[in-house]
Amino acid sequence: MDRATNPYTPNAGAPPRYLAGRRAEVEDFRVLLRRLSRGYTEQSVVVTGLRGVGKTVLLGQYQAVAADEDWVAIDAEVSKNTPFGPQLANLARRALLQVSPKARWGSRARIAAGVIKSFSLTVQPDGSLTGGLDVEAEHGRADTGNLNDDLADVFEALGAAARERDRGVVFLFDEVQFLSKAELEALIGAVHRTVQRQLPVTFAGAGLPQLPGLAGDAKSYAERLFKFPEIGPLPPEAAAEALVEPARAEGVTFAAAAVADVVRYTDGYPYFIQEFGRAVWDVAEGPTITADDARAAEALVEAELDSSFFRSRVQRSTPEELRYMRAMAELGAEAQKASDVAEVLGKASEQVAPLRARLISKGLLYTPRYGYAKFTVPQFDRFMNRYMALDDVPPA
Ligand SMILES: Nc1ncnc2c1ncn2[C@@H]1O[C@H](COP(=O)(O)OP(=O)(O)OP(=O)(O)O)[C@@H](O)[C@H]1O
Ligand SMILES: [Mg+2]
Repeated sequence: MDRATNPYTPNAGAPPRYLAGRRAEVEDFRVLLRRLSRGYTEQSVVVTGLRGVGKTVLLGQYQAVAADEDWVAIDAEVSKNTPFGPQLANLARRALLQVSPKARWGSRARIAAGVIKSFSLTVQPDGSLTGGLDVEAEHGRADTGNLNDDLADVFEALGAAARERDRGVVFLFDEVQFLSKAELEALIGAVHRTVQRQLPVTFAGAGLPQLPGLAGDAKSYAERLFKFPEIGPLPPEAAAEALVEPARAEGVTFAAAAVADVVRYTDGYPYFIQEFGRAVWDVAEGPTITADDARAAEALVEAELDSSFFRSRVQRSTPEELRYMRAMAELGAEAQKASDVAEVLGKASEQVAPLRARLISKGLLYTPRYGYAKFTVPQFDRFMNRYMALDDVPPA
């Protein structure tokens, strides 16, 4: 069919034409904002899930809900290469300017501007982050150089400024697992402060499934401040909708057998569904997509996944890391015991522990429970098995 009207969105973070499932999550977020607006306390959310499951898309929905509720939503992606302090200074500055334009700053907003300026100069002394903040820095606030203390000051000042305007501020952070322990601790501590002061500022986020553990290590009270709902693959009915609905809007239908094939192949993972939808649309004559079309598309989907989605995950891995993951894949998709993987490699656990730690820090593996590791990418075991043989030199 016409590629120009292909309605599927197999791209990272791309809002799907039809958002399947996730209604409860979106509604919970609305309730969170409404409660905070009214001065009630409520646990904030950090959504967790595997790669391609729809975390970034859900954060996008949160952003829409925030706009709908007249909250200021500031979204950002955490990265190992971006220093968090300066990033936060910039985001806080943007938040304040969106809470109210400078011409209409009240006394709280002016103080907040001074606190944010003070914070900005602390994390970036050259002053390059203070644009739009032409007030005196509030000396003695947010200027200790300890992110823990300073960020709490910033959140508190922002909260007071937001409340002055009957608004709220929510920071939406993606890839939260890439925060260092100290950074995560500071963020949780800052939210703690706003909860104590009943101020309408919070942070919600998304990241890989090791997050609840990381947060608990950083601050013991994290579990009381945050919920960590895990989003998984779509259940069969929602998976079918994710496939069928975008086509239906274009006047194209699916044979039931084709839907069943796609749901089976993708295991309900949203990214795989979008990739399959796109391929089968291009292959099919239409206006009904048949089981034959689905069968013809399957090989194309697999080639596409291998060359992009999976491939990009292994590209920056060393041969030793690849061998480790291949050994894990040998054992299957489930969480694997470190000692079992070492055994496949013919090594002692201690010998390969640094490798395992590196793969976790790169976000390729996570530890669902002590001593076990699992792939963060769905169906990665199958890919590794296709990619190289156990005793092979890994492909370049
Ligand atoms: N609820 C949904 N219904 C239909 N398609 C969806 C849904 N959620 C996400 N998608 C699609 O799935 C793909 C992956 O979504 P997204 O980028 O949000 O995943 P992610 O969990 O953030 O992945 P990663 O961990 O790699 O960042 C996108 O192509 C998106 O269009
Ligand atoms: Mg994402």
